[in-house]
Order: sequence, then structure tokens, then C-alpha cells
Amino acid sequence: MDGVVTYLFTSDRLGFRNWKSNDIDKLFKINSDREVMEFFPSLPTKAETILFIERMKDQFQEKGFCYFAVDKLANNEFIGFIGISEQTYKADFTPCVDIGWRIDRKEWNKGFATEGAKKCLDYALNNLKISKIYAVAPKINVKSEHIMEKIGLKKQYEFEHPLLIDNNLLKTCVLYRNE
Ligand SMILES: CC(C)(COP(=O)(O)OP(=O)(O)OC[C@H]1O[C@@H](n2cnc3c(N)ncnc32)[C@H](O)[C@@H]1OP(=O)(O)O)[C@@H](O)C(=O)NCCC(=O)NCCS
Repeated sequence: MDGVVTYLFTSDRLGFRNWKSNDIDKLFKINSDREVMEFFPSLPTKAETILFIERMKDQFQEKGFCYFAVDKLANNEFIGFIGISEQTYKADFTPCVDIGWRIDRKEWNKGFATEGAKKCLDYALNNLKISKIYAVAPKINVKSEHIMEKIGLKKQYEFEHPLLIDNNLLKTCVLYRNE
């Protein structure tokens, strides 16, 4: 419980906000869970977790969006991130803005990712006026692909992700987009 928290926007059960320093340990705990990170090449270190949060804060300052820190409104407890972020790795569809998510395993299967991603997509299209939102996941991450479908994104094609090219399990990714 963090006292009075101001959110940028909310959905029925979730609040979306910029990052703060006491999120570091909580995100690091999520990042250290092998099941949460099953479809990533490695577990982020504490230093990488800090760097990620710094990058998100910088992007928020500069662009007004990032992968937002997400709290449950019921108790203002941090449960992970859902949001949008610029991607500049080399691919046919980049530079672009993508939507992404990572939720604490104890909060899975409650509909939080679907609810939060729907809200972030709406915020990106209607408040930030970004016309194209992409989503990317390794093809084997079917749960994540299912969230993309449930929020109304449409599959474009599969591609070899340049940052995962050395990882045979993860390199083939699906690309989704809003229109
Ligand atoms: C992928 C991930 C974000 C899904 O989070 P989640 O909050 O469990 O997702 P949801 O609860 O919205 O959806 C999962 C299931 O919950 C169920 N569910 C339970 N209550 C629900 C509700 N009230 N509303 C909607 N779905 C609900 C649904 O049946 C859904 O199953 P379905 O996919 O077969 O429809 C989560 O597993 C995660 O963080 N994974 C690791 C990180 C990751 O892979 N990120 C993507 C990298 S590309």
C-alpha cells in the first residue's frame, strides 16, 4: 500500500502510472521468476532492471508514454507493467510503437493483462493519437498472442527477430497490428 497514488489513467481494476524508485525491487522479483521469463533469452539482472526502469522514465518524460507501471486499484499494489514503447531494432516495420506486458505470476488468469492492454491500446489510439500500434511475441508464447487477439489486433506476418536470431526457440516471432 503506497498511500495516495495519482494515476495517468485507470481501467476498472487497474491504475497506470510512471515508474518510481520503489518499483525496482518489485519488478526485479517478477523478472527473477523463471516462469514469467520463460519466453525471454535470459533473466534480467538487478542492474538491467534498473536500466529498464530508467529507460521507461526517460521515454515517458520525452514522449508521454512508456510501458507503464501497473497497480491494482483495490490496494494500490504494483503487479507489473502494461503499456506502449518505441522500438528501433532493425525490421521492416520499425521504428514503431508496440504494446507489451509482464504481470506477476500470482496475478495471472484474472483478466488483468486483457483489461490493461485494452485500456492502453485505447489510450494510445484516442488520447495519444498514435495511429499504428504493433505487438510482437515469440511464436511459442501463445498466451501473449492470445492477448493480442483478444484486444482486437490482427496478425500481419511472422518474422525472424534480429535481437533473438541466435535463439532457435525464440527467434520466430508473430507481428500483430491494430489495422
Ligand atoms: C501473458 C501474460 C501477460 C498474461 O497475463 P494474464 O493477466 O494472466 O492474462 P489474462 O488473465 O488477461 O488472460 C489469461 C487468461 O485468464 C482468464 N481469465 C480469468 N479471468 C478473466 C477475466 N475476468 N477476464 C478475462 N480473462 C480472464 C482467461 O480465460 C484468459 O485465458 P485465455 O487466454 O484462454 O482467454 C502473463 O502470462 C505474463 O506476464 N507472461 C510473462 C510475460 C510475457 O510473456 N510477456 C509478453 C512478452 S512477448
